[in-house]
Order: sequence, then structure tokens, then C-alpha cells
Amino acid sequence: MALAQPDPRPTAKDSQEQLITIATYYHLRYLSPYQESVSMVVCVCNAIREKDLKEAVRDGADTPCSAYARFGRRPKCGQCVPFARTIIAAERASA
Ligand code: FES
Repeated sequence: MALAQPDPRPTAKDSQEQLITIATYYHLRYLSPYQESVSMVVCVCNAIREKDLKEAVRDGADTPCSAYARFGRRPKCGQCVPFARTIIAAERASA
């Protein structure tokens, strides 16, 4: 029986939902047995994945805008920005 995975796409519309999104990210990233095989979509509008965002951070990006610019993109709806900031901070802290 396949386990249903929560949909990690950032669709939060208020801060409480954004916190749940971030908590889901950390659950999948650090607690899930699928953590190594999952590269979640961080920005739905631009189809930017977690691994791409982390690569941009390792290349020197320190904000969502500067990271997205490395792919020739920029935030559109902005729903992903808090989520992207969390990932950027975690990646910079682990460097
Ligand atoms: S989800 Fe990133 S700009 Fe809309």
C-alpha cells in the first residue's frame, strides 16, 4: 500500500498556513523516509525546485530574488518567498 505524501506546494494564504507549509517542509526534509528522493517544488509559478534553490545559494544567492534571477526568473505571486527564505537560511547555516 503506497503512502500518500502531503502536497508540499506553497499555497498558503495567511501566516498560519505558511507556518504549516514550513512545518511540512521540515517534516519531509528531516523526518520522512522519502527525504533523499524528494526534491520539492518551492516556487510553483516558476517551477523552481528545492535542489535548484540550494544550488543558487551555494553559488552566492542570499535572497529569493537573487536566487530566482540566476534562473532568469523572479517571484510572481510571492507565496513562495517565506518558504524560499527558510530554505536559503537553512542552506546558508549548513554551509
Ligand atoms: S509560487 Fe513563487 S512566485 Fe508564485
